[in-house]
Amino acid sequence: MRIESSHRTSRFALSTLVTAALLASLAVIGAQSVTGPGPEAKTAAGPPSSAPDTVSFAEDILPIFQQRCAKCHGAADENGDVRTEVSLNLLEYEKIMAGSEFGTVIEAGDPANSFLLDMIVDGTMPEEGDPVPEEEIALIRTWIEEGAPNN
Ligand code: HEC
Repeated sequence: MRIESSHRTSRFALSTLVTAALLASLAVIGAQSVTGPGPEAKTAAGPPSSAPDTVSFAEDILPIFQQRCAKCHGAADENGDVRTEVSLNLLEYEKIMAGSEFGTVIEAGDPANSFLLDMIVDGTMPEEGDPVPEEEIALIRTWIEEGAPNN
């Protein structure tokens, strides 16, 4: 008896809720069609600017160079002298893109012609320490493919 009646009560409450929710959403739709932005405004906004598949120079690429390459390509030694083997500094965007005395090491948009990528793929660089892991090489390759932006 008690169970039965409380069951009914909750059913009643539920249907009341559903009705209220329906009315509320109808009210929202109604309000939108009068005052809200139309569907074309939504389309114009487009996808978010930082899509998750875009590699960031500052967040993804520079930390790799800092960790694995800096001690020979741009960091200061104990005397405050900046070490730049073959004058290649890998700690600033402009210097990375400028390359070494032998020329550029990154060709924006063209991973196949980016010497730096060759050297980490074949394991020549880093000259000391662990090789660059596959997933970090993939990040660098994607970043070059995307035009090697300073993002
Ligand atoms: C222990 C020191 C050391 C580390 C660490 C190191 N390099 Fe080098 N790198 C050198 C030396 C020395 C040369 C010049 C000799 C040569 O070309 O083999 C060089 C040359 C290069 C060149 C060729 C530049 C040119 O124009 O000829 C590239 C590109 C390069 N390094 C990239 C990297 C990258 C990327 C890393 C990090 C993943 C790295 N290096 C880490 C010492 C190092």
